[in-house]
Amino acid sequence: MNKYEIVKGYIKEQLHSGKIKPGGKLPSIREISIQFSCSKNTAIRAYHDLEKEHLIYSVPKSGYYAVLRASTMNLQPPGLIDFSSASPDPDVMPYEDFQHCLNRAIELYQDQLFSYSDPQGFFSLRKELSKHLAISQVFTRPEQICMVSGAQQALHLLTVMPFPNGKSTILVEQPAYYGMIRSIELLGVRAVGIRRTKEGIDLKELERHFRSNHIKFFYTVPRFHNPLGTSFSQEQKKQIARLAEKYDVYIVEDDYLADLEMDRKADPIYSYDPSGHTIYIKSFSKVMLPGLRLAAAVLPQSLIETFRMFKSSCDLSSTALSQAALEIFLNCGMFNRHTEYMRNRYHKRMEILRNACNQWLPSELSVHVPEGGIFSRMVLPDQLPAIDLAATLKQQNVLVVPTNRSFLKTFPKENGLRISIIHTNEAQIESGIRLIGEAAEQLLSRTTPETVSVIDWV
Ligand SMILES: Cc1ncc(COP(=O)(O)O)c(C=O)c1O
Repeated sequence: MNKYEIVKGYIKEQLHSGKIKPGGKLPSIREISIQFSCSKNTAIRAYHDLEKEHLIYSVPKSGYYAVLRASTMNLQPPGLIDFSSASPDPDVMPYEDFQHCLNRAIELYQDQLFSYSDPQGFFSLRKELSKHLAISQVFTRPEQICMVSGAQQALHLLTVMPFPNGKSTILVEQPAYYGMIRSIELLGVRAVGIRRTKEGIDLKELERHFRSNHIKFFYTVPRFHNPLGTSFSQEQKKQIARLAEKYDVYIVEDDYLADLEMDRKADPIYSYDPSGHTIYIKSFSKVMLPGLRLAAAVLPQSLIETFRMFKSSCDLSSTALSQAALEIFLNCGMFNRHTEYMRNRYHKRMEILRNACNQWLPSELSVHVPEGGIFSRMVLPDQLPAIDLAATLKQQNVLVVPTNRSFLKTFPKENGLRISIIHTNEAQIESGIRLIGEAAEQLLSRTTPETVSVIDWV
């Protein structure tokens, strides 16, 4: 290693170990050149590199200082096991890579990023995305892609805007992503539910709804469902597309976790729908940075103008800076490399979750842990209400989410918990599931004698 790299390494170590605090002054160029027996130019070159990495900054006539930055340390309280969060693990987000893309985007597009832009989104990003989406069998043109501020915005706009089929009721699988349930309820839109189990949905019931219930669109998460974690079979996806065409019902296909798919043959409903009844939504929140607030909606031609109008009336456009940086992130291969890393990481966690559930959960709890994705659902017996188990676990620093909020108010709720592995490491999964098993056993053993004594007394 040459002197200049040694100096850089030394300063980095001082910064990371906290020996030089954020805002603290670094040794002067002269001090460094004496300490490392190197020329002043070598010290200056090392400091310039650290400046480029945004680790230090210089103040003319004063010296060099450590950059003040928010702590990258995990903000979780010690001992907390969080199976509730659905936002990505901050420790593995591609911050530095994305920072390069942000800088490059500013150099490349300059003022275009800081004025009003096309409500449909940056054209060059949409062009890049049309290539990227083809990998998942979503063949489309940039003109049919609309960039939105997160998948949530697309769901909100689709819920409220009129559709060319002139129908007004939304069909929602039950349970469903809570954000969709909330949009429907806040917007006061009429909605009906169709039960989804780990086997999927009853296609006869779906057809009955499509035929008789004035369905504008069917909202579904075919892959790695939230909160179930499960996916539709290819045959079910084909049938859903067929029924959509037959009854002129649109499908809102929320493919928020497409990038975590391990099975290359798992194509979306969109790919089985030549009739143009599917709206395909791809989020960049779960494997990338949710704070970018970026997702893409691929729309049939007949919906584009209305969607554009509703989108622009909502926020004029999504942030151009995020869009331009995402374009570069996709184009230079960083996205594919990062998603592969995340896919393997989450896949491994799901495997550990499966083994831990087999080992630690009492037989009264039924759980299905899918191969991929981030969620799994535990079904609990009636005598063990999910809310009670969640409250007991919270006292032990284990967070889980009861799934009752994932149902429409009018739909019968199921007693269950959603388990997310996105914020837990392997050791936490193991000990967290053990704690869930112990708490469930304890609560069950308490309820059993009481039930028996009530029956005895009667
Ligand atoms: C199924 C599903 N769709 C959409 C979203 C929202 O995604 P975005 O961050 O892109 O708005 C989430 C967030 O958890 C989700 O679980």
